[in-house]
Amino acid sequence: MADSRAIGVFDSGLGGLTVTKELVRHMPCEDIVYFGDTGRVPYGTRSRETIKKYAAQDEKFLLKHNVKLIIAACGTVSSVAADSAVSLPVPFFEMVSHAAKAAVEATKNGKIGVIGTAATVASGSHKREILKLKPDAEVTACSCSMFVPLVEEGWYKEDDIVVKETVRRYLQPIIKSGADTLILGCTHYPVLEKAIAGLLGGGVTLINPGVAVALAVKDYLKANGKEKLDKTAGKHSFFVSDKPDSFKNLASVLLGEEIDDRKVEQVDIGAL
Ligand code: DGL
Repeated sequence: MADSRAIGVFDSGLGGLTVTKELVRHMPCEDIVYFGDTGRVPYGTRSRETIKKYAAQDEKFLLKHNVKLIIAACGTVSSVAADSAVSLPVPFFEMVSHAAKAAVEATKNGKIGVIGTAATVASGSHKREILKLKPDAEVTACSCSMFVPLVEEGWYKEDDIVVKETVRRYLQPIIKSGADTLILGCTHYPVLEKAIAGLLGGGVTLINPGVAVALAVKDYLKANGKEKLDKTAGKHSFFVSDKPDSFKNLASVLLGEEIDDRKVEQVDIGAL
């Protein structure tokens, strides 16, 4: 039986639009409800308790929109709060296990790098998932705290001197580790993909968790007969917890398409 309900996606802010971009690319007919917690971003520097509390509120908001599944499009939530989603009445997808699986499939020398926010790296979530699949893998993880503000400032082009130097400095531990595969474990990092690839060269495979989760969701919908029946282009609704003014500029960078700010609705997420 088909399921015409929307896919629910949330993130600490607008970074999850990089994941939404992949969902749209792989499932153009599916409707999507996106919630970005722009009033409380970033999550990556917060405590586990706070991230769990926020994630629970974000999930509750999406459930009110009668979604058929929920994706935590946030590397940080996926790393530290995924266990709180066990009681959800709909299937839940996080970013870590799918990225880990893709990395294990891609690596040839068994050395895998992970980059993410401070909370993501401190959680050790990627290492745990990778070792479940490949116990002899060597995992090197480092946080790249300035990547998010860099992208939000619109500085992400590979030939930008500031971008090049920031990427070079943060990725030294990854280069030293000899990793042949690198998980871009934070929503914003795929925007820096060209700059990162430019530094690491063609010998290192970059894993975009957004692609991995989009393929996993697509497989799930197909296997369970839950794809949308109507094959017209999907409707996408966007909600944020702060004023929607800046949505347009960042959306064009992260989502790859312009969304009129007037189509973005502000909600009081704390009141839920
Ligand atoms: N969305 C977050 C992540 O993927 C990055 C921004 C934040 O720290 O909230 O980890």
